[in-house]
Amino acid sequence: MCGIVGYVGYRDCSEVLVSALTKLEYRGYDSAGIAVFDNNEIKVAKSKGRLADLVEKMKTDGKPEGVAGIGHTRWATHGEPSDVNSHPHSGAKVTIVHNGIIENYKELKKFLTDKGAKFLSDTDTEVVAKLLGYYYKLNPGKPLDTIVETIKELEGSFALGVVFQDFPDVVYAVRRESPLIVGVGKNESFIASDVPAILQYTKDYYLLEHDEIAKLDCNGVEIFDEHGKKLEKELLTADWDMDAAEKGGYPHFMIKEIHEQPSSIKTTITPRISNGLPDLKECSIDLEKLRKFKQIFIVACGTAMHAGMVGKYVIEKLARVSVTVDIASEFRYREPLISKGDLVIIISQSGETADSLAAMRLAKKLGASTLAIVNAKGSSIAREADMLIYTHAGPEIAVASTKAYIVQLAVMYLFAFDLALAKGMIDEAECKRLTSILQDMPSLIETILETELENTQYVSNQLITAESLLYIGRGLDYALSMEGSLKLKEISYIHSESYAAGELKHGTISLITKDMPVIAVATQSALLDKTVSNIKEVKARGAKVILIARDDFNVDEDAYDYIVRVPKTEDLFMPIPAAVPLQLIAYYTSVLRGNDVDKPRNLAKSVTVE
Ligand code: AGP
Repeated sequence: MCGIVGYVGYRDCSEVLVSALTKLEYRGYDSAGIAVFDNNEIKVAKSKGRLADLVEKMKTDGKPEGVAGIGHTRWATHGEPSDVNSHPHSGAKVTIVHNGIIENYKELKKFLTDKGAKFLSDTDTEVVAKLLGYYYKLNPGKPLDTIVETIKELEGSFALGVVFQDFPDVVYAVRRESPLIVGVGKNESFIASDVPAILQYTKDYYLLEHDEIAKLDCNGVEIFDEHGKKLEKELLTADWDMDAAEKGGYPHFMIKEIHEQPSSIKTTITPRISNGLPDLKECSIDLEKLRKFKQIFIVACGTAMHAGMVGKYVIEKLARVSVTVDIASEFRYREPLISKGDLVIIISQSGETADSLAAMRLAKKLGASTLAIVNAKGSSIAREADMLIYTHAGPEIAVASTKAYIVQLAVMYLFAFDLALAKGMIDEAECKRLTSILQDMPSLIETILETELENTQYVSNQLITAESLLYIGRGLDYALSMEGSLKLKEISYIHSESYAAGELKHGTISLITKDMPVIAVATQSALLDKTVSNIKEVKARGAKVILIARDDFNVDEDAYDYIVRVPKTEDLFMPIPAAVPLQLIAYYTSVLRGNDVDKPRNLAKSVTVE
């Protein structure tokens, strides 16, 4: 949560910072601010609200003029969104922006207050600014030593951009847990929480590791370790191009990303298939290793956890290995019964989700092997896992995850085929057959995107006045319903729950009235009759039923009010195409309700706090 940026170069710094922050707004958007060296003075502009509000404010109040500075877009943790709680924050001769949470800020605040410090905001960040100021007084003229001393005192997570009044046009940065990159251009350099922020200027960057400190000035970039010792680091090149971080003619990132799903699947699976079989060796996964795993845990949050739910069905069905799916925030505190010989799979788009990262560290501590399925290159989860499969969805900007989910599913399938082969549950011929069905998924999705846009818009029109609705399904359809329901509620703000269709009559059916639409997912031939019976039960109680069904299924017309057809593939694979109409329904409902689709209220893309 929160995005930070920094710039040192020759361009108009305020403009660079604002433009870089627009690419990070998905990380938080309840206030924004910048600090720029203007005639050797640090000038701050900040405001509650969106980045656009800051830009407007600067039109009236004037924008800081200079070539070096730092910026921030906020997702509030300590202190409500307000002008005064917005970043940057200042201490004596120092101004900072911060992404993360300082866990011991209360103790530090007391320490500083006892020394006479006065605080203006409710934030943990201001405590860091004042602490830097305190250490700077003890180390005058020595910014690097000041940072080294300060971070020794901090507990929690942080990525900081720091400017010192005495060192005009120099930007410092340091990180622990929270992500931070340092971009390197020609005669200019950048800091940013994520790669898309700098893509329009450069593709070359350093990845700052735990407690590393960067210094950016007119001579370029220097990086130091936590003791202030200079380091040589590898310069990386981003393989995302700028278009990936632009809307490219679509009204929202979410709909653009929905349309990118066929190519995201292709880019993710094609390099992992050789001779028609899954080949995960470059991810350090071979059949020998797979054979040894006793049980599997899939641990993740939100949409990524829902991908794990589908993965559980697929892995258990094909490989006959027991799979437990856990919400990361529960897993880490429930003393899970895992040990050496178990595999813990962590799924994460951002690779920075605090609970998922902590769950992975716990799994490692308990002796399990860890496999990360991650989209963001070089992220913490990616770097710390024993085995790693990158999903190649490219940058996902919309807060509501779509293409990242689809590629997580694709990887779950590929992994399940490989595991089933390793365990001797399927032979090579069957494995090749399954792999080739997976390769057909992009074209199925393309068909849906050609034929179902209007239909799903029509369905969304029926939902816009609903206050609450239910998603129901059985088996894989239930696993998919969870994601459909989350997608709808996070961007439309309509309350919705997913329910195992067979469980309804044990209580939840009492909620059904004519005002409670039900979205029923029926794509599994073996469960069709059972699901249709449950649909009829809710229909008989007045519910408006929207049926998402495989296109060859014959369902009585009086069992539903609207139907969305999903092109047929084998039952096991149906969650992949069927996810698309659910995403579209959520998208259009949000658009029709006039919501901010890409930046839903209260949410942030990357949840780096507990
Ligand atoms: C998805 O639409 C969500 N906004 C959210 O549930 C997300 O999937 C979750 O926070 C996990 O994020 P991660 O994949 O980056 O770990």
